[in-house]
Amino acid sequence: MSTTLTTIILILIITTTITTTISTNPTTYPCHPPHNTQYQFCNTSLSISTRAHALLSLLTLSEKVNRLCNNDTGISRLDVPPYEWWSESLHGIASNGPGIDFVAGPIKAATSFPQVIVTTSSFNRSLWFSIASAIAVEARAMYNVGQAGLTFWAPTINVFRDPRWGRGQETPGEDPMVVSAYAVEYVTGFQGGGLRNGGTGGRRRVLTGNGGEKELMVSACCKHFSAYDLENWGKYTRYNFNAIVTEQDMQDTYEPPFKSCILQGKASCVMCSYNAVNGIPACADQKLLQKTRTEWGFKGYITSDCDAIATIYEYQNYTKSPEDAVALALKAGTDINCGTYMLRHTKSAVDKGKVEEEVIDKALLNLFEVQLRLGLFDGDPIKGKYGKLGPQDVCTSDHKNLALEAAKQGIVLLKNDNKFLPLQKHDVSSLAVIGPMANVTDELGGGYIGVPCSPTSILEGLKKYVKKTTFSSGCVDVACTSNGGIKEAVSISIKADFVIIVAGLDLTQETEDRDRFSLLLPGYQKALVTTIAATSKKPIVLVLTGGGPLDVTFAQGDPRIASIIWIGYPGEAGGRALAEIIFGDHNPGGKLPVTWYPESFTSVPMNNMNMRSDISKGYPGRTYRFYTGDIVYGFGHGLSYSSYTYSILSAPNNLYVFGSLRTKADNILKQKGIFSNYLYVNELEEHCNSLTFNMEISVTNHGPFDGSTTVMAFARVPGHFKGAPLKQLVEFERVHIVSYKDARTRILVDPCKHLSIVNEFGKTILPLGNHTLLVDDVEHVVSIAM
Ligand SMILES: *[C@@H]1O[C@H](CO)[C@@H](O)[C@H](O)[C@H]1NC(C)=O
Ligand SMILES: *[C@@H]1O[C@H](CO)[C@@H](O)[C@H](O)[C@H]1NC(C)=O
Ligand SMILES: *[C@@H]1O[C@H](CO)[C@@H](O)[C@H](O)[C@H]1NC(C)=O
Ligand SMILES: *[C@@H]1O[C@H](CO)[C@@H](O)[C@H](O)[C@H]1NC(C)=O
Ligand SMILES: *[C@@H]1O[C@H](CO)[C@@H](O)[C@H](O)[C@H]1NC(C)=O
Ligand SMILES: *[C@@H]1O[C@H](CO)[C@@H](O)[C@H](O)[C@H]1NC(C)=O
Repeated sequence: MSTTLTTIILILIITTTITTTISTNPTTYPCHPPHNTQYQFCNTSLSISTRAHALLSLLTLSEKVNRLCNNDTGISRLDVPPYEWWSESLHGIASNGPGIDFVAGPIKAATSFPQVIVTTSSFNRSLWFSIASAIAVEARAMYNVGQAGLTFWAPTINVFRDPRWGRGQETPGEDPMVVSAYAVEYVTGFQGGGLRNGGTGGRRRVLTGNGGEKELMVSACCKHFSAYDLENWGKYTRYNFNAIVTEQDMQDTYEPPFKSCILQGKASCVMCSYNAVNGIPACADQKLLQKTRTEWGFKGYITSDCDAIATIYEYQNYTKSPEDAVALALKAGTDINCGTYMLRHTKSAVDKGKVEEEVIDKALLNLFEVQLRLGLFDGDPIKGKYGKLGPQDVCTSDHKNLALEAAKQGIVLLKNDNKFLPLQKHDVSSLAVIGPMANVTDELGGGYIGVPCSPTSILEGLKKYVKKTTFSSGCVDVACTSNGGIKEAVSISIKADFVIIVAGLDLTQETEDRDRFSLLLPGYQKALVTTIAATSKKPIVLVLTGGGPLDVTFAQGDPRIASIIWIGYPGEAGGRALAEIIFGDHNPGGKLPVTWYPESFTSVPMNNMNMRSDISKGYPGRTYRFYTGDIVYGFGHGLSYSSYTYSILSAPNNLYVFGSLRTKADNILKQKGIFSNYLYVNELEEHCNSLTFNMEISVTNHGPFDGSTTVMAFARVPGHFKGAPLKQLVEFERVHIVSYKDARTRILVDPCKHLSIVNEFGKTILPLGNHTLLVDDVEHVVSIAM
């Protein structure tokens, strides 16, 4: 590790505690009287692009170079104030970015929603949207009082490819379609870029309009582009890793979330990742980065991950000098560097003729346009629309209730023998609560947290229901390297009527820069659980924390462990949400957005990026779409206190691609010269609409509680197409069903989109023949012919 990089990384880590004050006194806005009203860049009746060009035209080369880092020190001669580009908001305003300050200002806390993997488990789009909108309000309020920037580096939308990944918790799970849907809700909710499609039927409206030029409430960033999902495994680190990705996997797994985030979400930022993709460091990969603009219509700025320009030279050894790294990154389309590498090496790169000033100009235009769209130069930004937001809009009861709601909707009931749960309040005279995570608060937020408004521990949550509640941590910490605490835990649990044990993970086990090597419970945790289960009066409830899958096979089969509940990192209201579920005030309906693999999966090399299995090499593949081995719990698993059955009420049996236009079909066949059992989707465009159909589904709640569940419709393509998924998610819809009643939902199926697959050459094809639609255990066959 080079000393510069070491220093920078240390600085980046330390910045979580550094405080900076961003002045938002209106007189410091460059375009607010008495400043610069004569300058074109301040003329709000001009287009954003004209204003950006106007500002650029005033700058010297060194002023331009000084803009290329996250900590922009401002241009005093033009009254452009300092600006910190780096703020974080993954699941609430987080202290990780130096743009956020919880100390020097009136706002001392912000709502801490569940970690993303938990919120995702709700499979509720309107919840996702509402959370992002709430975070945006708190973000803008913090900006107004000088405690935050306006550019936030969330959401994390890499697919959760490997269960050991330390940042899997930050993602919306393993399915690219779900990750894409989450990205769109988060970005549109956060940026304030459009009204949500509230209608039924699943498919959302694509936001149109003047897109790129739109004003922004705050700016969201799709990260980390691309194929980033390894922190530190064996000799591989995120800094030196070269992800080898097939075209097929790239097109149907790694890229779709980014495409949606940009094309439908209209995100105003993309972050390129540390790793290389097929030999080229992401931030130096012109083809990769330009695709966002040329194919997906991206309007915004591309930032490097923090020090991901330095790593091009220092870790990836991709260039011969720092100047070459900087020049390559700028030419590829990276607009700004988180870190100081560009600041230090760009001038000399220009002097040595490695990069032209025009390339820097392009980068600056992207940066200025985003700042102008945010209203950053104009004072009481965006005509007073957001200027009123302040401390009174942060940690409101609405936001805190939403955090509670998200935890309740996301928590997943994995096992519930003989309807052991819910416990009846009046039947529980005493409760023992065991485990190192049971009496903590901040740790329930997982990675990227700030200061929560009203944190509750699990213990506090349960005490609200049962006065006589005792507690023992059982282990000193989550690593649980000693069995010394088990005895005390047994001594309290044997006296209690019911026992709830909280096991699992925290950030000491899985986080940024830290992948796991085992999927088992850490240290003596399993011994703690089995000992308590063996000595308690009644079967126990096992509560699991952590974002990554756990191999809890031992507990699945153990009748003394009646129920298992996964809470992940449920955020500031998690303790209360769990208690409401355990005591039946909320009927759980969350479902796992990621496959839970057994420990044996750890023999799979984490650096193998292939999604598809290769049985000849003993490679089992990844995620429910391709993995062929044993599982602990599957994607979509999640129980309720009610039971539900599903039926497909209507869907077509036959679809003819060309309808009456047989000649067209014949022409295509002639052109190919051979009979084909598939069609290229890009040749079908005008036929896709006429193929689209509604699938009507009914769900019956067999009681005894009202509840919400998620209808998941999958599809399986006919025949043997190389690398076809075992099945793929078409659509999901969370529905509420009153006890002993049914509810209907309609899913719009666009065969070109939902029944197509990507072939080995990265082309999307629509197989002809019998496709199978699956909802739970109900199947329906649709034949697609020319
Ligand atoms: C702002 O731009 C508009 C449109 O070009 C122009 O008519 C107007 O004179 C400009 N205002 C100033 C103060 O330059
Ligand atoms: C940003 O730059 C200013 C001016 O050089 C410096 O005072 C400040 O400490 C820097 N902030 C961070 C977070 O590095
Ligand atoms: C890059 O170079 C450094 C120092 O020259 C060396 O230690 C490191 O192993 C190289 N890394 C790669 C990925 O080749
Ligand atoms: C739970 O943790 C809090 C805060 O650390 C502490 O004050 C309290 O004593 C703990 N409760 C028990 C029962 O140990
Ligand atoms: C989805 O979330 C919203 C917001 O919390 C909530 O009002 C709605 O009831 C949820 N939908 C279902 C079906 O649970
Ligand atoms: C498709 O399914 C129909 C009815 O289920 C069956 O008659 C037909 O032979 C199948 N076609 C193919 C190509 O398998």
